[in-house]
Amino acid sequence: MCGIIGYIGFRSAREVLLRGLKRLEYRGYDSAGVAIVNEGIKIEKRRGYIEKLKVNFDGTLGIGHTRWATHGVPEDRNAHPLTDCHGKIAIVHNGIIENHMELKNELAEKGHKFLSDTDSEVIAHLLEELYEGDLKKAFFRMIKKLKGSFAIAAIHADERRIMAAKMESPLVVGIGDHENFIASDIPAFLEYTNRVMVLKDGEICELTDDFVRIYDFEGNKRDKKVKKVEWSIENAEKSGYEHFMLKEIFEQPRAVDETLHSLFSRNDMNFDFSKVIIVACGTSYHAGLVGKYIMEELLHIPVEVYYASEYRYRPNVRDNALALFITQSGETADTLGAAKKAREEGLLTMAITNVLGSSITNYVEYVLYTHAGPEIGVAATKTFTAQLASLYYFAIQQAKIRGMIGMRRYRELINGLRKIPYKIENTLVRERRIIKEAEKISKKRDIFFIARSINYPIALEGALKMKEISYIHAEGYPAGELKHGPLALISSGVPVIALAPLDRTYEKMLSNIKEVAARGAYVIGISSQDEVEKYVNSWIKVPDVEPIFSPFVNVVVLQLLAYHTARILGREIDKPRNLAKSVTVE
Ligand code: F6R
Repeated sequence: MCGIIGYIGFRSAREVLLRGLKRLEYRGYDSAGVAIVNEGIKIEKRRGYIEKLKVNFDGTLGIGHTRWATHGVPEDRNAHPLTDCHGKIAIVHNGIIENHMELKNELAEKGHKFLSDTDSEVIAHLLEELYEGDLKKAFFRMIKKLKGSFAIAAIHADERRIMAAKMESPLVVGIGDHENFIASDIPAFLEYTNRVMVLKDGEICELTDDFVRIYDFEGNKRDKKVKKVEWSIENAEKSGYEHFMLKEIFEQPRAVDETLHSLFSRNDMNFDFSKVIIVACGTSYHAGLVGKYIMEELLHIPVEVYYASEYRYRPNVRDNALALFITQSGETADTLGAAKKAREEGLLTMAITNVLGSSITNYVEYVLYTHAGPEIGVAATKTFTAQLASLYYFAIQQAKIRGMIGMRRYRELINGLRKIPYKIENTLVRERRIIKEAEKISKKRDIFFIARSINYPIALEGALKMKEISYIHAEGYPAGELKHGPLALISSGVPVIALAPLDRTYEKMLSNIKEVAARGAYVIGISSQDEVEKYVNSWIKVPDVEPIFSPFVNVVVLQLLAYHTARILGREIDKPRNLAKSVTVE
């Protein structure tokens, strides 16, 4: 899991590459490097953040890389770009070369000397082995020998071109005037051009100063549309917020609104299925769990929710099911693997993703895009609420199509959904109140989140946000389960965050709140109901919404609580330790 970039044109390659890498940093940040052609290839790479690079050379053609280690520990010698034996060829790679051992042995026998522990280095040596004065020809021959996933860019000291290829790792081309770009993601070059081509699996790209050509792995030319990116680079920057995560939390009204608007025009949702299987990882999995409650409530059909890493290895099952994959990045390896399996099982497949042309879109029959804009903070926030918006809309449409709800209820639900951006805004104004609670819980060692029914997944999400960015141990539980074990952990002063919307579980939640309060817990109640104040140590009032929509407002409080707790503790919020934004390895 890494970010790659390549530039050819008239600007300072050093500047383009370093600025681009900074914007790709969310893809990994344990080492970085650049290679620039300037009377040979000059390389600067090292372990650590991009800021540590000391690039005291320049040129107008180069490649760069920001790394999240998979093969080989984060060390200078394992940082990319990697070169052949003579330093004439340099490559950057994102993905995993599965047959690297086999290739390495063959190349070592032929005398190639390997300097790193990476799987990627075989690419440079293979190119060297196959090079006969033409990088393009060598690249086409090389690519056929690779097994695995890759986005690769390669340069040669004596040639003015970049060769790149994509297989199961993202790669986009930026088209300029007398300059061209290649990168793992659009923000890397968006300040220079908004004209992009999204590469598909099995495509090779040749970039020179004046043209970009796309081929399949057999060398046949492919036509590709150039798309105009509507969002600006400012969208991908912090706009004055201290962290991307906070900016993204505050962007949620717009993210939900734009997602709903794009869906309102969709009338291609007439699917035949009698069961839904939702598959996802992490925060997207929690969106899937909310989806289960919504669909069971509105469609009265069974819905199973799987972690993608579990679904991949379950036995094949015959089913008239819709398999729904939720992945904001569209690149999560486990989710892609699960989608492949679902296709093999003959299931109807659909994906919800935030990234245009991302890998998942090649694996499924139908795609619903969320329109949250780029999410840079590693912890997912606005893409989560945008995923929820898509799930609600999908379920409401299905309920109408199947005659499960009448026109009146349909309109009521759609109107409720339309108001969500405004309800989220009214939740965000509670920030100062939430900061006060964050100050208290930032001193604690364990935090518990409890809820019932459709908010149980929100308790899980609140706990996930808390642990991943504040590093405080946090657990989410269905409130009714406490008495079956976890209650033993509740002692004096332990924070318990309780979600209590006015739904059919409200009275039960109040009982659970009393249960933990009686054991000395410090209870923070999140509810629209004034009465809750009587039973808790601290009450955070949220706007009134129809109970089915309560996850939207509750999750915003929990995101802010996690964010401010982590900020008070001085954590690296946008880049939590050991994590990366898109997990393209199993
Ligand atoms: C947590 C988080 C992760 C992702 C998970 C799936 O804040 O962001 O748990 O939700 O890695 O990522 P996607 O949705 O890109 O498949």
